Amino acid sequence: MADSRTSTITPPETKYLKDYRAPDFQIEQVTLVFDLREGVTHVRATSQVRREGAADAVLRLDGHDMTLMSVAVDGVRLTADQYQLEDHHLTLPHVPDQFELTIENEFDPAQNTALEGLYVSKGMYCTQCEAEGFRRITYFLDQPDVMATYRVRIEADKTAYPVLLSNGNNIEQGDLADGRHYVVWDDPFPKPSYLFALVAGDLAVLEDHFTTRSGAPVTLRIFVAPEDLDKCPHAMDSLKKAMVWDEQVYGLEYDLDIFNIVAVSHFNMGAMENKSLNIFNTKCVLAKPETATDGDFAAVEAVVAHEYFHNWTGNRVTCRDWFQLSLKEGLTVFRDQEFSADMGSRAVKRIEDVRILRQHQFAEDSGPMAHPIRPDSYMEINNFYTVTVYEKGAEVIRMIHTLLGPEKYRQGIDLYFDRHDGQAVTCDDFVAAMEDASGVDLRQFRLWYSQAGTPEVTVSQSYDAAAESLTLTFRQMTPDTPGQTDKKPLHIPMAVGLIGPDGADIPLQLDGENAPDDVATTRLLSLTGSEQSFTFVGVKEPVVPSLLRGFSAPVKLKSDLTAADRLFLLAHDSDSFNRWEAGQEIAAGLIMELVDDIAAGRPLHLDDGFSSAMGKVIGDLDLDRAFKAEVLSLPSEATLGQYRSPVDVDAIHQARKFVRHALAATHETALQSIYNACQTTGFYAFTPQAVADRRLKNVCLSYLMTQETPAVFTQSMAQFSNADNMTDEIAALSCMVNSAFSETRDAVESFYAKWRDDDLVLDKWFSVQAAVSKPETQDLMRRLIQHPDFDWNMPNRVRSVVGPFCGQNLTCFHDKSGRGYAFLGDVIEKLDPINPQIASRLVQPLGRWKYYDADRQKLMKATLERILALPNLSENTYEIVSKSLK
Ligand code: TRP
Ligand code: ZN
Repeated sequence: MADSRTSTITPPETKYLKDYRAPDFQIEQVTLVFDLREGVTHVRATSQVRREGAADAVLRLDGHDMTLMSVAVDGVRLTADQYQLEDHHLTLPHVPDQFELTIENEFDPAQNTALEGLYVSKGMYCTQCEAEGFRRITYFLDQPDVMATYRVRIEADKTAYPVLLSNGNNIEQGDLADGRHYVVWDDPFPKPSYLFALVAGDLAVLEDHFTTRSGAPVTLRIFVAPEDLDKCPHAMDSLKKAMVWDEQVYGLEYDLDIFNIVAVSHFNMGAMENKSLNIFNTKCVLAKPETATDGDFAAVEAVVAHEYFHNWTGNRVTCRDWFQLSLKEGLTVFRDQEFSADMGSRAVKRIEDVRILRQHQFAEDSGPMAHPIRPDSYMEINNFYTVTVYEKGAEVIRMIHTLLGPEKYRQGIDLYFDRHDGQAVTCDDFVAAMEDASGVDLRQFRLWYSQAGTPEVTVSQSYDAAAESLTLTFRQMTPDTPGQTDKKPLHIPMAVGLIGPDGADIPLQLDGENAPDDVATTRLLSLTGSEQSFTFVGVKEPVVPSLLRGFSAPVKLKSDLTAADRLFLLAHDSDSFNRWEAGQEIAAGLIMELVDDIAAGRPLHLDDGFSSAMGKVIGDLDLDRAFKAEVLSLPSEATLGQYRSPVDVDAIHQARKFVRHALAATHETALQSIYNACQTTGFYAFTPQAVADRRLKNVCLSYLMTQETPAVFTQSMAQFSNADNMTDEIAALSCMVNSAFSETRDAVESFYAKWRDDDLVLDKWFSVQAAVSKPETQDLMRRLIQHPDFDWNMPNRVRSVVGPFCGQNLTCFHDKSGRGYAFLGDVIEKLDPINPQIASRLVQPLGRWKYYDADRQKLMKATLERILALPNLSENTYEIVSKSLK
């Protein structure tokens, strides 16, 4: 359902954190009766309401896009003059201090294309209530600090909807007249309305069992469309691993008899943690080797864990208001990151997470939507489910973990649950628990919650040979962001090591300290001032400092390390993150020099030192294969685009391509022999070793393909045709579509013919083509959105086409003709009335106009203006576009 606002002349209201007030009423219990029928759903909500605030406070309920049938107080139906009905509210001016409120209303879920509230996806009913979807189901106090117990009765046709689910326990069921049936669910835990869920459909189920540490049996079920049943075992496996991990690492057990997961093909985000009834985007739950890549397997494992972890961090302890979103999301992302690190390779997981942070969150934090992890204001809360709230939020929790150490962190977590179980609380409550349990002063640290922008830390070193000391001087500065200037210095945990000429870490001792009794070779420095020096003593020879080890804080670090220092770190750092980082820094520096060469018309050549260092990495048989693949993967174009403005997308693309081509030419034989060595035999397995082999093999293939020899094309085609898993199949296809060989067409067509009935695989087919950096892609994009399998109502499909084109394929999106921008403008015009949440996400690349040259700026802004002028623009897109034009 499109938003009912008819004009953009009155901008949506801005909500402020400082205006928070506790609610005047609580709803303690609610009974919902759903009558699901073709064309209309009827809802009866009976709530037990209690006054908490002033005696004259009015009861103002939220409600959107539905038809009110009746309102009754304590069983007495109200007349129209006894309440006030507005677009988004139902107000009862005079109500008793404690009473029963009964509301009946109707709407048609089949018309709901925004996918919030109750809607229909492929013939099944499902809900998405976070953040404010419940108000599209019934009139209610739809805010997270109102917590009720729910009893839910669902009635529907028994043949079309044999499975009827809601939160909690199934307490009753039976048949009704006319081939209908009903089920009653009861959830004993009080919860905010955003955690309510309902599902009705004809679904197959995978069932399993888990026994908690204290012996309680839990039934685990995954509900999917019948044809997807063979894609559920990996998610089930992941769920059980997550349950064990949370018991072992956090001491947290599951608290109900049933845990259900439902897979839905039309879904705005990844998944949703509704109490005991998690609802998932099919993309984040379905996986089998033939159709899902290793990346998909990892994402399923992480998202299943994430939603499961929310049962404690989000559901048992929830958010007081939506400004506190990072309370549950930052903490839960940190938990799922650590879970994934424990399941696979910790070093590689950290590298992957930092790549995402830099490419997406650093970009957001330097753009028009920059906001603190706890925003001060918003127009549309759906626009604040961001990489900042999630990923930077997770970095902030990680820093607390680093500053406290694992034991005190765990004591803080325990105290947090002791104090706040069953409550709706704030980020500050969380930090206070951490502080009180550990005794660590986090006063200055709290600024991470209120200050936006990526801090820039500059470090310089001076070695005093006579005194055998090394002084590191740090300066920090956080740039202005929209609405925030003059930032204060933050408390930054800076993990540092010093590496001696032999390549080994030296023991660390700060000036004025006793000699350390343990030989810790990584030291955590607390940066708190805008400028601060630390002197290490007993440094008998010149050393190379390894700074910000493990990426101990989400900052941009600028150091005076030389190219030789970085090559040394790439060869020797004991901190694998920094070893990788050194390689990335060198590569980025070289690529940016080549960008200058291109601008100046100079011939390009590859730096010998870098080439031979990469040759050593390629040839190092002792090096972990997953890590090797990470080192060989150069910084993305989007990341390189953040180094300098105006961004020269074409030169960046050309320079990066040149480096890859030159490295491959020099090391062709070695790359080919690794490719051969990584060919796994036997059946597919999602094990760290097998994943690493496929990753490295496919990185090598993409390097080899830069040579565009018929032999390597044949090799790609063979891999494509013979693959028994999607990882190898799609990697080969991607290599081929980016090449100039005309036979690629056959591969694209055979892939389509093979997979046309599998939505998630078809999404990959669209994505691979939209990412091709060739002029033809402009026309192709127009054809892709006209393709019979393209569907504007399916977020996964729309994202699969538009996402790679605007986010990865920068030469095409920023084509100087403006065709790429016009394409996105047309997409938003079509999509916004259908699904505002997705439209407002996809429009965001245009907001980076200030980083481009004058001609592109003009074109990008004109596209934003055009979108802003659309009639009936959603509040979601209005907020992004209007802020992007400031
Ligand atoms: N709470 C969900 C998560 O991160 C996020 C989510 C799922 C969501 N669907 C949504 C947020 C729709 C807003 C709108 O696990
Ligand atoms: Zn979450």
